[in-house]
Amino acid sequence: MLVSERTSLTEEIERLVEQYGKDRSSLLPILQAVERKYRYVPDFAMQEIALQLDIHPVEVYSVVTFYSFLHSKPRGRNIVRLCRTIICDISGKENVESAITRELGISFGETTPDKKITLEYTNCLGMCDQGPAMMVNDRVFTRLTPEKAVEILNEIK
Ligand code: FES
Repeated sequence: MLVSERTSLTEEIERLVEQYGKDRSSLLPILQAVERKYRYVPDFAMQEIALQLDIHPVEVYSVVTFYSFLHSKPRGRNIVRLCRTIICDISGKENVESAITRELGISFGETTPDKKITLEYTNCLGMCDQGPAMMVNDRVFTRLTPEKAVEILNEIK
């Protein structure tokens, strides 16, 4: 991270601390605000938040790694979440999963080198009768086949 980026991140966190308060209970809303903007919480932000809230950086890191909606590593502009719960699993999820990883050349939990797509697993999306299902950002796709999944990926690539 460049010095200028660090400076602006420090200022941004100062503003968030001003907005939410210096209390320990401000930790989560501040982390969520950083995550919203950067799609993850950079290491430097974790250190800076710890410093400004006067708590240990390990505590900040533990919160980031505890909640599934916070991330400690950079993520892609598009998040593809494939349902791994049992009904989708028996409806052909494995073939869809193979087609996706083959098409993108990355595994689940990874991000494409161009930072366009991150692959993640998710639990039940509530579309069990139409599985296999996956979400691309906020949109749910159902009755996936390997071909249909690759088509969807090509639209966002
Ligand atoms: Fe996949 Fe419910 S098990 S949507």
